[in-house]
Order: sequence, then C-alpha cells, then structure tokens
Amino acid sequence: MIAIVAADANWGIGLRNDLLVRIPSDQKFFRETTTGKVVVMGRKTLESFPGKKPLPNRVNIVLTRNKDYAPEGVEVVHDIDELNKLISAYDKDDVYLIGGASIYKQLIGMCDKALVTKIDKVYEADTYFPNLDADEAWEMIEESDEQTYFDLIYHFCTYIKKN
Ligand SMILES: NC(=O)c1ccc[n+]([C@@H]2O[C@H](COP(=O)([O-])OP(=O)(O)OC[C@H]3O[C@@H](n4cnc5c(N)ncnc54)[C@H](OP(=O)(O)O)[C@@H]3O)[C@@H](O)[C@H]2O)c1
Repeated sequence: MIAIVAADANWGIGLRNDLLVRIPSDQKFFRETTTGKVVVMGRKTLESFPGKKPLPNRVNIVLTRNKDYAPEGVEVVHDIDELNKLISAYDKDDVYLIGGASIYKQLIGMCDKALVTKIDKVYEADTYFPNLDADEAWEMIEESDEQTYFDLIYHFCTYIKKN
C-alpha cells in the first residue's frame, strides 16, 4: 500500500475537517496518481469531499465503526482485518492510503512507500501525518525540483520504508 499526502512543514495535514491549502498541480498529481486505483480513507475524509461523494473512477474503501453507514458508491469496512481481506484482492501498488490523520497513523506501518507533497510553510492545523523524517524506518529517495504556487514553495517527495 502507498500513502499519499500533502503536508506542511510540521507535517500538518488538516484543520476542521478540511485541507490546509489547495494547490492545483498537487490536486492534479493526486488525481492522476490515484485514478483507476483503490483509495482507502476514514469516514471523516470521505465526508470532507464535495457533496460527501466518493472520488470518481476509483474504488473507494471507507473505514467506519458504524455498521449502519452505507453511502452510495463506497465499499465500507469496519476494522483493519476487514480492510486487509478486501485489499488482498488487489495489487498492493494499486492501493493508496489517502487519509485522514487517524487512518495514516494506524496504517502507515502497512505502507512501503509514501508520496508526500511537502509544503514549505506552517499552517494552523489540528491533524498530522507521522513525521517520516524523524522515523529511521523511512528514507526519502526522491525530491522534485522546487515547485511554486503564488508565494508557496513545495516539493513532491518519495519516501520508502527501508528493508
Ligand atoms: N493533506 C492531506 O493530504 C489530507 C488527506 C486526507 C485527509 N486530510 C485531512 O485529515 C482530516 C481528517 O482526519 P481525521 O483523523 O480527523 O479523520 P479520518 O481519519 O479521515 O476518519 C476518522 C474516522 O475513520 C473511522 N476509523 C478510524 N479508524 C478506524 C478503524 N480502525 N476501524 C474502523 N473505522 C475507523 C472512524 O469513523 P466513525 O467515526 O464513523 O466510526 C473515525 O472517526 C481532515 O482535516 C482532512 O481534510 C488531509
């Protein structure tokens, strides 16, 4: 499984169930990377999407503990075992962990790669991605050239879990 995230300089990823910032080329990267693939998310992340609708042209798997939760167009799982059974049908490189914070925290250990858009700014945030720079199990193997969006500077970074 591959984690994909946009994080600020403190690994902040969200505030009040919304993103910290929307960067069009990052959203394009996310869309192009995950289209045709499987995306795994928490219930709150699904509900942060426009109209609380699943992402088009992707298999949307949503984790919730609520047995009555059954939104249209979504595969619902109620625990990590159920998730594992469902994703075992797919190639692991086709399954993207797309958040939010609670899901990243619980499942980063099941990922062997993370695509991190690192934004060179600190926002007010209430949700965070695990700090991979401080985790010896992970190493950054690729960093794009500097990208800009108005006054924002960011990089597309690839991390892999060391063997
Ligand atoms: N920057 C980025 O790339 C990025 C990406 C995604 C999300 N985000 C941000 O992250 C924030 C949301 O993160 P969050 O941590 O608050 O919510 P979340 O992880 O999206 O969803 C949390 C919910 O997932 C369900 N859940 C969690 N663990 C589970 C388990 N083991 N088994 C079954 N269900 C489980 C629970 O749903 P129930 O309460 O229904 O049981 C829980 O309330 C938002 O601000 C969003 O914008 C940022």
